[in-house]
Amino acid sequence: MNELSLRDRAVIWHPFTQMQTAPPPIPIVRGQGAILYDADGHEYLDMISSWWVNLHGHAHPHIARRVSEQLSRLEHVIFAGFTHQPAVELAERLLSILPQNQTKVFYSDNGSTAVEVALKMAFQYWHNLGQPRRKVVALEGAYHGDTFGAMAVGGRSAFTAPFTPFLFDVEYMPVPTTGQEATVLERATQLFTDDVAAFIAEPLVQGAGGMVMYEPALLDQLFQLARRNNSLIIADEVMTGFGRTGRLFASDHLQQNPDLLCLSKGLTGGTMALGVTTCTQAIYDAFLSDDSAKTLFHGHSFTANPLACTAALASMDLLMSDETQANIQRITKCHSAFAIRLANHRNATNIRQRGTLLAFDLSASGQTGYFNTIRDQAYTFLLDRGILMRPLGNVLYLMPPYCTTDAQLAYVYKQLEELLVNLPAELYTDP
Ligand SMILES: Cc1ncc(COP(=O)(O)O)c(C=O)c1O
Repeated sequence: MNELSLRDRAVIWHPFTQMQTAPPPIPIVRGQGAILYDADGHEYLDMISSWWVNLHGHAHPHIARRVSEQLSRLEHVIFAGFTHQPAVELAERLLSILPQNQTKVFYSDNGSTAVEVALKMAFQYWHNLGQPRRKVVALEGAYHGDTFGAMAVGGRSAFTAPFTPFLFDVEYMPVPTTGQEATVLERATQLFTDDVAAFIAEPLVQGAGGMVMYEPALLDQLFQLARRNNSLIIADEVMTGFGRTGRLFASDHLQQNPDLLCLSKGLTGGTMALGVTTCTQAIYDAFLSDDSAKTLFHGHSFTANPLACTAALASMDLLMSDETQANIQRITKCHSAFAIRLANHRNATNIRQRGTLLAFDLSASGQTGYFNTIRDQAYTFLLDRGILMRPLGNVLYLMPPYCTTDAQLAYVYKQLEELLVNLPAELYTDP
């Protein structure tokens, strides 16, 4: 075992990792573009953008230069009673590209806190109006993060089982996938009553729930139904934001605007931790009062960290450039062509795509009992070939940084086809 891996074993507890059975972690020493380099000189194509955060490739020189300049000017300052240029400029620039009804930006640290803040804003909005509402409607199989509020509005699963007694009740709606229209609308009519504080959804793509994709039209209808009783709509764009779905935000595919929007992950181009919750003027106004009890009592030590805001500004320079926008369209086209090829493989089912996100299910001749074996074998098979992907159960997906070249994509596609041909045979010999 590598020396660093041994030292890691002695002192570190890794996220989402069964420490008893997990193989030693791979020590990464540097990254460039879509490639990560390990201590032994192996290369890995980062096809999951390092947990969906990286947009422009690793150690991007523009982001590095801007952050390093900011580091020697102002590394951090308390954000209550004080402000700074990067936070103000980032808020201005974000609001200029978000749905038009968004008027205020609240900073936090990550995707889960962005969701916590949105939920607290929604509950306290109704509280401040003197018409408390307690009900939240969410989608089945949703994932909104790992803090308690975020877990509560996520689907119940093995991840949340030990905490179920501590999670507030949520009403679930089936995911509005094609073919589910009647069921979804019927359920929506039952659920969207005048005591619903908020409806929360990952628009168009449910990420951790298995890259479940659905069309904008039915979600628009759900938003309209929720609006009939003035329920607030929370769009969790932590994963879908910043170009992943082919447009800047998944909300850009919709007619209806959300009232609250959660952002993180790609916000800083994957450089630093930063979360953002944005809201409408009406929500913000409900907190304005001579009565200090109506204040939003929420904040984190590193709220609006100047380095993170600067990284986000630098990432936005790159994101809005013609080059990146063309890359997003290029990757979308490459994925579409590969999706057609994938359809020829009987072990690739439920092939789906939204912009730069491509996903399919691995089915090894109906041997669903091998669910975990498939996941682990696919992970290792691809890693051995220099590709970092992290299947969600039997769901394989690609979420590459936008700098990924055609040649790199072609290599990944080829290895995935190899996997489809080879994996079942390996599985059948599994004890
Ligand atoms: C849609 C969505 N919301 C929230 C989160 C939580 O973000 P974080 O891991 O930064 O807390 C995630 C993370 O995967 C996510 O995909």
